[in-house]
Amino acid sequence: MQRRLSLLAGVAALGLTLAACGGGSGTPSDNNKPSDATGKVGVFTWWADGSEKAGLDALVKVFNADYPKLTFDNLAVAGGAGSQAKSVLAAQLKAGNPPDSFQAHAGAELQDYIDADQLEDLTGFYQANDLTSQFPKDLIDRLTVDNKIYSVPSNIHRANVVWANVSILKKAGLDPAKPATTLDGWFADMDKIKATGKTPLAVAGSWTQVQLFENILLSSLGADGYSGLWDGKTDWKGAEVTKAVNAYKKALTYTNSDRDSLSDWAPATQLIEDGAAAYNVMGDWAEAKFEQDGKKSGTDYAYFATPGTQGVFDFLADSFTLPKGAPNPDGAKAWLATIGSAAGQAAFNKVKGSIPANTTAKTDDFSDYQKSAIKDFSQDKIVSSLAHGAAVPVAWLNDLSTAVSKFGGDGNVETLQTSAAAIATKFAK
Ligand code: GAL
Repeated sequence: MQRRLSLLAGVAALGLTLAACGGGSGTPSDNNKPSDATGKVGVFTWWADGSEKAGLDALVKVFNADYPKLTFDNLAVAGGAGSQAKSVLAAQLKAGNPPDSFQAHAGAELQDYIDADQLEDLTGFYQANDLTSQFPKDLIDRLTVDNKIYSVPSNIHRANVVWANVSILKKAGLDPAKPATTLDGWFADMDKIKATGKTPLAVAGSWTQVQLFENILLSSLGADGYSGLWDGKTDWKGAEVTKAVNAYKKALTYTNSDRDSLSDWAPATQLIEDGAAAYNVMGDWAEAKFEQDGKKSGTDYAYFATPGTQGVFDFLADSFTLPKGAPNPDGAKAWLATIGSAAGQAAFNKVKGSIPANTTAKTDDFSDYQKSAIKDFSQDKIVSSLAHGAAVPVAWLNDLSTAVSKFGGDGNVETLQTSAAAIATKFAK
């Protein structure tokens, strides 16, 4: 990935000297450069606790230094992957009560808000701040509709990572540095772990199961077969998908029996830290938790691409918007300027476990995992995450999540395939 010197840090400093342009008045100004707006900036995310809040706090620290006249108003709603936040946000937008800025995933999820005419066009903001050239083209394409850009990405996360407890693997006679490269090989390793009395695979409820399902689909079908599920090129009722769903069914047999009562991703990842389970398939926000909890990679935990997905980067990116009707649009633009800046991205991503979307951000002091993710992102095949808003619109994800959750109870392969096919037909454009 190409890295250049930061332009935006200079722009942010320059912004402090620009003339006032509306502040908290609620009137959008023409000025797309960061202004010396005043007042509160209400920002809606689901980074409400733990390592996710620590990431947000690091970003807010840069924002406060960039814009001392603005006050950050934290409107976070708890629940990983926006499991609670997205419906709360939808209700607020419907009621005409938008925040100044909200978190939205690049890709299909963002498209929902664009289609509903809920977002301001940020193309002028990008031009004025020379942003386009600082983000990977692939990412800009996912944020662009009809030649307009609607949000500023804060980070890139990877969804196909396995996090492993090193001592459990060693006790089962497995080498943590040489993970399985196929699902069958991985299941054989899980049998060995099971024989030691440990839980092979930790998962929590709802969306974390969808993310596990996504990983098994990707491993079984390959990058093209997986991507075809979202654009109609792969038949949900086909034999390849039957094989993949059966593999998911098998994977569930290795999971903790209390999976449905674990409320979020962190308690499942905690089972790895506690030495209660061997593997957890989770996005690389888990890296932030291991770091925050003082765990050492290589000694305490190991990471590797979900077996069968080597060379594929299951991508998602958080991005931030300027909703139509935001109370403080100039304050929101200042927030977006900090998010887009090299300094903001370096501070935020270092703590969040993700990699900067802005390719000019400094990453020398990032963790080994993050450095490996930067390298992989620059050379792997990129696919879109299902569970994290990149592949399908929110309504599609919600319906499919219900079907996956039902499958967790009844294990009926044919029903899951038939439901997923009907859902794909319902939402296909
Ligand atoms: C994702 C989000 C990540 C992280 C994760 C777990 O949807 O993009 O930044 O917050 O959920 O909550």
